[in-house]
Formats: sequence, structure tokens, C-alpha cells
Amino acid sequence: MQTENNSVNMDITLVESRIKTLREQLEKSNYEYYVLDQPSMTDIEFDTLLKELDSLEKKYPQFADSSSPTQRVGGEINKDFKQVAHRYPMLSLSNTYSREEITEFVNRAQQSLGVNNLEWVCELKYDGLAISLLYEKGKLVRAATRGNGVTGDDVTANIKTIKSIPLRLIGDNYPEDFEIRGEVIFPHEAFEEFNRKRIENGEEPFANERNAASGSLKLQDSKQVAQRKLDCYLYYLIGDNLKENTHTSRLESAKKWGFKVEKYYSVVQGIDGIMEFINYWETKRFDLPFATDGIVIKLNNINYWNQLGATAKSPRWATAFKFKAEQAQSKLKSVEYQVGRTGIVTPVANFEPVWLGGTWVKRATLNNEQWMQNLNLCEGDTLVIEKGGEIIPKIVECQHDEGLSKDGKLERINFIDTCPQCGAKLVKEEDQSGWYCPNYNHCSPQILGRFQHFISKKAMNIESLGGEKMRYLLNAKKVTDFYSLYTLTEWQIVGVYETNDRHKVSIQDKGAYNIITAIEKSKEVPFERVLYALGIRYIGEVTAKTLARHFSSIDNLRNASIEELQNVQDIGLTTAKSVFEYLHNEENLLQIEKLKSIGLKFEVDSQEINNVLDGKSFVVSGTFSKFSRDELKRTIEMNGGKNVSSISSKTDYLLAGEKMGPEKRKKAESLGIPIINEDDFISMIS
Ligand code: IVH
Repeated sequence: MQTENNSVNMDITLVESRIKTLREQLEKSNYEYYVLDQPSMTDIEFDTLLKELDSLEKKYPQFADSSSPTQRVGGEINKDFKQVAHRYPMLSLSNTYSREEITEFVNRAQQSLGVNNLEWVCELKYDGLAISLLYEKGKLVRAATRGNGVTGDDVTANIKTIKSIPLRLIGDNYPEDFEIRGEVIFPHEAFEEFNRKRIENGEEPFANERNAASGSLKLQDSKQVAQRKLDCYLYYLIGDNLKENTHTSRLESAKKWGFKVEKYYSVVQGIDGIMEFINYWETKRFDLPFATDGIVIKLNNINYWNQLGATAKSPRWATAFKFKAEQAQSKLKSVEYQVGRTGIVTPVANFEPVWLGGTWVKRATLNNEQWMQNLNLCEGDTLVIEKGGEIIPKIVECQHDEGLSKDGKLERINFIDTCPQCGAKLVKEEDQSGWYCPNYNHCSPQILGRFQHFISKKAMNIESLGGEKMRYLLNAKKVTDFYSLYTLTEWQIVGVYETNDRHKVSIQDKGAYNIITAIEKSKEVPFERVLYALGIRYIGEVTAKTLARHFSSIDNLRNASIEELQNVQDIGLTTAKSVFEYLHNEENLLQIEKLKSIGLKFEVDSQEINNVLDGKSFVVSGTFSKFSRDELKRTIEMNGGKNVSSISSKTDYLLAGEKMGPEKRKKAESLGIPIINEDDFISMIS
């Protein structure tokens, strides 16, 4: 008995120490990747460790920790955001577009303090959403938006998904508790990709990165936030027990504790240094990977902060200089319509090239029909184009050339009604803003787009082929459908070439070998990625995963009704219809059969499914402490069980959390259905 107990204890100690090691390794890798920008682990290594940690935490819930790297993937649902009071009011900054007013601000501070040569810290003004993070004993305990400055929304679950924000600090030299503030931003590259996908899916794109960042933090589903690649720069520490007495030494300490702090700051003396900083960033800002709308000037000495104090709205020790959005005018040449891989048609305005924010600009997206109508775009218009903090220029105004109008009427440019590529009549779905070409299987840009998507990294990962070579294999008719990719041989593709404007491109022997090897290797890609690779409208990576796990195979998925599809977590009517239609189209089904025949995976691997719950049905009700309700439901499915919504004599278990309604309990008791708690469930599956 004694020995048995000892061995159990031993195992548990080993588990605990493994969990600790895994957390440390993952935290370190996160920090190196997202804060230092120096990756030290491959994605696969990271995912493998994360998976191991996740399964250990599920199996040994006694070691759960809200700061664990597993908490970053999201999953918590924010029903209503709790209102929380800020410990210190979240003031904003006085601001101006005028250099003179900056000089006046500096002079006022000098006069009030009676000091002439003050030290100023110049920083970038990040164009995102202000956030306040509370740390206690080195752990992130709360994140709140600014709100009205006195109270804000508790957005902790969403903030935890931002990988550059530490959930646990490095070392032990940080104050017991403190607050750090900064800006959540949507970097240009991530934003562009995100908006492109929205347009592709017929969703309204966000007007700018700031709106998109703030919209993201207000999302109810933190899993969706985790997909958005937000970032966060921190620029202001507050607390009663901070020992540093300059702003820059606080920033430097924060950096050592693992924060991604403002890194473009400069310490300058007097007004000349401030102007130099302003002048430099006024033009250089367009080279940054994120939006800034100005610069912030802060006194470096914290004692001066206390001496100067603040007005009701803003501190007297800091102010902001705002950059004017750069504008230029140009004559509209034409409106061109681009067809994306899902058939969405995007209008683009071509105009005479103009110099704007450090580059020549000659085109700008018009997003969709509504956008064009709001601008009231007419033939011969002079466009006012603007580049603000964002990298993408946008058309803000159309000035009509009345002289060009026929019979006193302006010629408004109307959205096209047929596909510019294949001539099919365009269609629009209810509640969607974009028109799309329904000629899915025979419209060339859709075909190319679909192939490029199929071979992309997150789909079949046939990277060595690449988008360009894919195009010329299609043009050379070496490939006609996904299946034909798998019948290619090296000799068929060596020498395939295309001459474009700039150069001749061709596939060499070695390249051909790599391509064929990668194609062959892609047969190992799991079902959820194959499903994503098919390019079904509205099926992104996350939805594909959800569907694959829920239905386990393409056959089950095909047999599901629209209603059954809609019953799956996060699947709405539009997505359900899209999947249903795709899987009831003859051509698509034939393609799937052919792909199955050459070995692509159309069902979840048996080792991924654990059948311990073998068909048992569960009603999950109430709130739980170790898992979210969604996670529990998913775990039930992954273990071969079923979720049902109401208790009947056929229900096998009622998985009861806190705050479960008394009616449910009564009903289960009267039907003799076992009522289990979270821990019982965990032991069932382990
Ligand atoms: S300091 C009490 N530093 O600009 C002063 N703010 O209009 C606290 N912002 O609400 C703010 N970059 O959201 C500071 N480097 C920076 C900033 C910055 C952007 C935002 C912040 C603030 C707003 C003021």
C-alpha cells in the first residue's frame, strides 16, 4: 500500500514538474517570437509542446493555472463585459497639429517648474485602443479598456490571446502589484490580410486598423480574437510602489520583465530635439509596420509629473503632436473589378499616379458597391486620396467634373452586373455586402485563387510549388483540378515556363523534384486542413477544424442537414448553407471521390479520436471552473460522445456546473439520469 501511494506521489510530482517545464519553454518561445522578434522554435515544435501541456492540464486539473500558455488560444465567451473601476483614472492627452503649440506647452512646463533645460521623452503615438493591464505577484490579473476613463470594460479573456502580452513576468524584480498601460494595435500586414479575407467572405471590411483593433477587443468569442494577430505596445507604468524615478528607466525595467515596450522613444533636451523627432517621424512613419497618428512628448523626471499634476482630462507633463493625414488629388482613369478565389468581386479605382506619404500611388480599393455609392463616384471625377496613419491609401472624396455631365446629369458609375472574367451574372446573398460570380468551377481567377489557396501553408502546404508556378501549371494546362496535381510527374513539369513583363520563369529539375515530393507529402495532411483546402466559401481554418471534429468525416458532413450544421457551435445559417450546397454539387463530390482515391484524408485519424465516451449523450449545463462550456462540449465529441440540448430518458449524463437551473436537476433526478460534475467528467475521459 505504502509503495503504491509513493509511486502515485512520484508520478504526480513528475507530472507537475513536466507541466512547469513545458510552461517555461512555451513562455520563453512566445517571448522570443512576439516580443523580441527572434524565433527560437519552429511552429511544429511549439504546437507539439502546447498540445502536450494542454493534455496534461486536462488530465491533471489540479495544476490548472490561468496564466498558462494554453490560456492564449481563447475559448472563454464574454457575454457582457464586466464594468471595472480603474485604480487610477485613465486620462487622455492634450493634442495639437501645431508646432507652435508644442513650443508653448514646453515653455509652460519650464515656467511652472522653474527649470530651463528639461529632459523630454519623445515617443510614437500608437493608433489603436488604449488598454490598462493589472499585474499582481507577476501575473496578469485584469485587462480593461479606457471606457469613460473612470470605468472600462473587463476584456481580460480577449487580451490574453495577444501573444506579446506576458501572462507571467520574467524574473522576480517587479513590484508586488502595478498597472501598465499601452495600446492594442492591428499591425498593417495582419490587418490587410484580415480585411482581404473579410471582403472575400462578403463581409464589410473595417475602415481602419484602429476600428478593427477596438472591434476585436469587444468580440464575445475570445477564440476569434486569438485569430486576429493583434499586438500591443506598452508606454506607461503606474503604481504606488515603483522604484524607478524616470519614465525611461520604468520603460527599461518593464522591458526586462517581458513587456513589449515603446521602442522608438528618444530622450531629448529642449524644444529643438522635440522638433527633430517630429520632423523625422512625420515622413518615416509610413515605413513602420503599424499605424501612428502622431508623437507623444513626456517629461522624463517622474518628480515633475507629481509637481505639475493634471487637469480633469489630461496630464500637464505630457502632450501629443498629431500628424495631418497626407492628401493628394488625382483624376480617375477607370474602375476595374477583381475577382477573388471565392468569386467576390472587388472594385478598384485606377487614377493618375500621385506622390503620397513617400510612395507613388495609382490605385485604391473601393471595397464594394455600397462604398462606391457612398462616395457617389462618377465618370471624370477628381479623387481626393488620403494616407493617414495606415499604409493603405483611401479615397475620401470625389469631386465631380460638372462640365463632363451630359444633359446636366452626372454619369454615376454603377457596379457591374456580370463577371468581368467569365461573363456570368453576378449574385448577392442576403445580408452580405458583396456581389460574387457564381460560376465557381469555370471562372479563371476563381480557379487560380482556389489552387493557390489549396497549396498554401495552412492548407495542403505544397509550399515549394508557390502561387506563381501554380499559375503557369494551370496556364500550360498541366493541371485541371486538385486531383490532377496528384498525378503530375517530374518530367511533365520540368521546363514549364511563362514569360511575364519582367522575366522568364521556368521549373528546373531540382524544383520539379521538390514540387512532386511536396505534393506527395501533402497526402499526410489531416482532414481538418483538407476540408479547409477545398476552399468552401466561409470555411476558414477555425470553422474547418470545428466541422472536422464535430462530424469526423466528409461523409457525415455531407449527410448533415442545414439545420444540423447550424446546430454546431459557431456555425451560422450562411456558413451552413454554403457547406450544404458545396457538398451537394455533383462536380465537387466527384472531385472529393477522386481525391479520396489517391489517399487524401477525408476523415479524422483514429488516433485523434478517443472513444471512451462511445456514443453516450450529455447535457452540459451551468458554468464550470476548469473548462468553458464549449471546451467541455468539444471534449465530449472528441471522446466519441454526443451533446444534446435537453434532458430526456435517452440522456446518459447531466454534466452539471454551477448556477445550473433547479429544473434540470429535478428532471434528471426524476428520470434517474446520473448527475456528474467537472471532476467526474475528467476522470471519465482520463
Ligand atoms: S501616454 C496620461 N503614450 O493616445 C497619459 N499615450 O490621446 C497616458 N497613445 O489615451 C497616455 N501612444 O491611448 C501615451 N506613446 C504613447 C501613446 C499614447 C498612443 C494614446 C493613448 C491615449 C491617447 C491620448
